[in-house]
Amino acid sequence: MKDIVNMYYPKINNNESIKYATRILNRIEKLSKISENKNNTTRLYLSIEHIKTNKIVEKWMKLAGMQTWQDQVGNIYGRYEACTKKQPAILLGSHLDTVPNAGKYDGILGVLTSIEVVNHLNKNKIHLKKAIEIVGFADEEGTRFGITLLGSKALTNKWKKKWLNYKDKNKITIAHAMKNIGLNTNKICLAKRNTKDIKAYIELHIEQGPYLYKNNSSMGVVSAINGAKRINCTFTGESGHAGTVPIYMRKDPLIATSEWILFIENELLKSKTKIVATIGKINCYPGATNVIPNKIKLTLDIRGPKNNELNKTISNILKKAKEISKKRNIIFNSKKYYSTKSIKCNKKIKNIIKKTINKTQGNCPSLASGAGHDAISMAKKWPIGMIFIRCIKGISHSPKEKVLKKDIIKTIKTYMEIIYNLTEKI
Ligand code: GLV
Ligand code: MN
Ligand code: MN
Repeated sequence: MKDIVNMYYPKINNNESIKYATRILNRIEKLSKISENKNNTTRLYLSIEHIKTNKIVEKWMKLAGMQTWQDQVGNIYGRYEACTKKQPAILLGSHLDTVPNAGKYDGILGVLTSIEVVNHLNKNKIHLKKAIEIVGFADEEGTRFGITLLGSKALTNKWKKKWLNYKDKNKITIAHAMKNIGLNTNKICLAKRNTKDIKAYIELHIEQGPYLYKNNSSMGVVSAINGAKRINCTFTGESGHAGTVPIYMRKDPLIATSEWILFIENELLKSKTKIVATIGKINCYPGATNVIPNKIKLTLDIRGPKNNELNKTISNILKKAKEISKKRNIIFNSKKYYSTKSIKCNKKIKNIIKKTINKTQGNCPSLASGAGHDAISMAKKWPIGMIFIRCIKGISHSPKEKVLKKDIIKTIKTYMEIIYNLTEKI
């Protein structure tokens, strides 16, 4: 190792934090333009844009003094060694893929802020007691193939072979898309990481909700990540002529769907569970102005902090869909295709993060994440911790997503201290 062991406290001063935050924001702008659409940010797993982004992020990792590599499912990594050889790593990361018409910060901010922290260490020739690794996960959102967390699942060996046959909207399979960009589908298992090589996984992410914004705080510590289920639903009725079939004779699945959606909203407004539900995709068939629909296909995304409450609410909602359908002579079917239980962040890591934020911010709000994160799958194998940074008005998954520069300036200083404390204490 070229650098001498230097264990002085790697504090980031005001000028440095401004410089780092400016670079982060410039890089965020640059990445936001790597998109399959000209007018918005849409970057999907295994696309040309994915690999282009990996190459750029890899270059930034190298400039920060890291050794880099891309793994067999397309995650991009950098490693910065500890002050002694062969130390396990604190893995910092988040994702580089986006939802369609995305914001600029979701996932990306965590990766780029982590690179600045390593850049700071490298510039000052500081190596900590643990190695620092950064991962830019290839797929968290699941936008292209409908399976989320494909990047992080490979690290924990949870990749299923059958996924290779899953298709995107253009009927391209994951296997095909992997081959197109030079990944070998027979080597996916090599993306697995040994438990002992990683000490903990830490994710810095925008909150994506309004809690910190309302509390006027730049940062907070995450206590848990809510459980989530995704269910494909179909209401099947009967087509007919829009001008001739009397209203009382129709078997219109769209009316049934509407009644059901309003029921869901009402139930959740009444409930004290903090459960939220979204119907984000809905298709109406055959889809003609003058034809009564015969089929509605939709997705239900439903999340909450307590697993038993969430399961109970789902049963209640699905029961109601059957009741409404029966009343309207319609058939209802559902199939759950995604399920995560709510998970808690590691207590020791949470306390270290909390103490450090308290020190730099004067307080430390603690909150559960309503959004899903790569940390969910990482928690299957390693202790995890998460730091949230405020986003304006809590808006996310939207081009209106915004993070203030002053919050990034504050966060980068705190983040450096958190990482230092973690390398010392865990
Ligand atoms: C990921 O962003 C999710 O929570 O859907
Ligand atoms: Mn997202
Ligand atoms: Mn995200």
